[in-house]
Order: sequence, then C-alpha cells, then structure tokens
Amino acid sequence: MSHNTIEINRAMDRFDGHHSVWLFGYGSLIYKADFPYLERRPASIAGWTRRFWQGSHDHRGTPEAPGRVATIVPAAGAICHGMAYLVTPEEFTHLDHREKNGYLRLAIDIRFDGGGTEEGLVYIARHDNAAYLGEAPELEIARHIARAQGPSGPNAEYLLRLAQALRDMGHVDEHVFAIEDYLAGLDDGGLPRPA
Ligand code: SIN
Repeated sequence: MSHNTIEINRAMDRFDGHHSVWLFGYGSLIYKADFPYLERRPASIAGWTRRFWQGSHDHRGTPEAPGRVATIVPAAGAICHGMAYLVTPEEFTHLDHREKNGYLRLAIDIRFDGGGTEEGLVYIARHDNAAYLGEAPELEIARHIARAQGPSGPNAEYLLRLAQALRDMGHVDEHVFAIEDYLAGLDDGGLPRPA
C-alpha cells in the first residue's frame, strides 16, 4: 500500500449520513487536538496495544530518515487507553491529511472511562503500509527516536508528550514508559539542549 492513505480514507463510507462521529486517539491525537470537537472523553479500546512501530516521513522524520511513531497492533486481552473526540464529519478532511502517512480509518468499539460504549473510528497503521518499520527492541527504538526529527519537531517530543499525557490520565503503558526511560538514559535524549 502506498504511503498516502487520503484517497482510501475518503472512500470509507461507514459513517456517511451521521451528524457526528467518535474518533479514538492513542498517539499524538491524545495530546494534540488541532481540530474542533463537540466533546472529549477519556476512553479505551479492547484487544489492541500501542507500539512505536510506524515510520513517520511527514511529521517526526523525513522520507530519507523516518521517525518512529505510534500505531496499534492486535493483542488478546489488552486494553489501549486514549482519548475519544466527538467530531463532525467535516473534520475528517483535516484528519485524513494529518494521518496520511500510512494510517487507515478503522471502525471500532470505543469504551468510555465513565461508562458506555459507542462505535467510532480509529486511525491504524497496519503492517502492510509502506512506511511501516515494525518491531524492534525498546532501546533501539529509543536510539532511533533520539536522532529523528521532522516538520512537526523532534521525534523525542512526540514520545515524551504522549508518555506525560498517559501519566496525567493515570495510565501505565509499559512499552511507552520503557522507551521514555531508555531515552532519558541516552546522552542527548533527543531534545535540543537550551543554549
Ligand atoms: C493517533 O494518535 O490516534 C494516531 C497516531 C498519531 O497521529 O500519532
């Protein structure tokens, strides 16, 4: 599959005719909501786990030196915590552009932390997309993140902001926190030092 998923996502008609749609965010969509929303609620999806296995050519890296960002992979019994946003369908023009580097919209059951479930959408970067990097030891992922940067800024910032947002919501993600720990132990840590 090509890197750019805009056309495939635009053709998805699962929620056509709906006045609003729930979107589940598990990566930068947790801490960077650069779109208007009607409502925002902490939530989770069952049977998925967050992994820094997706390459980023357009936000936290470049085509020549991709960064590493989050996707979700199936995992029996796992719960992936994140943030759900109720948005109008027009927002998907911006969201499809933002998530264009390999992410596909997938219909999914979203469970709200306060109770209740709604079917909504999540953007997932599957293993068959051209930007996928796949599994690697967490130390190697930390080293990769420490040296990558792209138009949206240092790759380390993505990881650190996500880890902090999860912590603020009271969640532990062992994969994310392990990478964060390794990053802290590296010489440069991936973020520019103050002058
Ligand atoms: C998400 O946050 O739900 C998708 C991945 C990303 O944009 O970081």
